[in-house]
Amino acid sequence: METLSLAPFQGITDVVYRNVFKKHFAGIGKFYTPFFTGIQKDNSKSLRGEEISPDFNDVKTVVPQILSNTAEEIIRFANQCKSMGYTEFNLNMGCPFPRVANKTRGCGLMADPDRTIKMLNDVFEQIDGIKFSIKCRLGYYNDEEIYAFVDTFNTLYFSEIIIHPRIGKQMYTGEASIDKFKALIQLINKPLVYNGDIFTVSNYIHVQNACKDAIHRISLPSSPTIMLGRGLLTNPFLAEQIQHIENQKDKKHRLHDFVVDLYVERLRHAGGSPKIIGSMKELWKYMMNIFDDPQNVWRKVKKVNHLDEYETAVETIFNDYNLMP
Ligand SMILES: Cc1cc2nc3c(=O)[nH]c(=O)nc-3n(C[C@H](O)[C@H](O)[C@H](O)COP(=O)(O)O)c2cc1C
Repeated sequence: METLSLAPFQGITDVVYRNVFKKHFAGIGKFYTPFFTGIQKDNSKSLRGEEISPDFNDVKTVVPQILSNTAEEIIRFANQCKSMGYTEFNLNMGCPFPRVANKTRGCGLMADPDRTIKMLNDVFEQIDGIKFSIKCRLGYYNDEEIYAFVDTFNTLYFSEIIIHPRIGKQMYTGEASIDKFKALIQLINKPLVYNGDIFTVSNYIHVQNACKDAIHRISLPSSPTIMLGRGLLTNPFLAEQIQHIENQKDKKHRLHDFVVDLYVERLRHAGGSPKIIGSMKELWKYMMNIFDDPQNVWRKVKKVNHLDEYETAVETIFNDYNLMP
């Protein structure tokens, strides 16, 4: 069975989501945390919480991610991850938001190759015993920027390079370019992971076939693996459908149980605070699209402010609407 991974989503795929998802759905073998920042010291507060604690995360299948632009901070993060038992960590070179990218972080790193390549070399000189992967786009301002990194990708020991084939300035508009990804398969000698716009099984097959074709031409031993993102937030059955392991039990019941469990767990972790409605709404922005009347489903969730209103809205949605066939 092929390993599918789940993309990180700040504010959605936190430790609670990841664990509840795993309890209810199969098909995902690897989970990336949303990015950590501000690792100013070894015992930085963000590294002491449940989000990264090995007591709440399976260190063999979870990959912590950092958003940073200094080798020093990345090395500190790598060492902390290693001491907790993680076998891999990931650097975010893809976040497109201007307030991040303008500070040469996230996707902004791709627009400054000299500085970024030096930083990556410095990191590899000082880390040991933990795999280092990156998640990037084609570039920030244009889709040629990635070519300045190809030699570095090939000479340094990245365990994996995840590419979302858009540019930062596009944010999420337009389409992810499978053609650009295919061209990179021929140039990069590290395991590649494709990420972008896989919402259905046929989207997945399309990417797989396109990659097979490129791989065949250069006789690579294996296909790039695939990272699912918004497609899986929308349809949590997607990985099971791709892997042909879909549980035959009633889908609507399964989805209902997942949504309720996630809410109860979030509440428990937040000590009962209604603030968790915010993160449930973020998920519903995607999940509404699995229902046959997404706009009305969203209208019901959007307006709630209190826990009891949220609970009523969810029950109404599951009573009144069906899942898309
Ligand atoms: C709300 C939101 C939060 C995100 N947070 C992160 C993050 O913390 N780290 C990261 O590498 N990518 C992040 N991403 C990007 C996704 O992981 C993924 O690369 C992107 O959605 C494209 O894949 P998709 O088309 O399959 O959704 C985020 C995207 C969105 C929309």
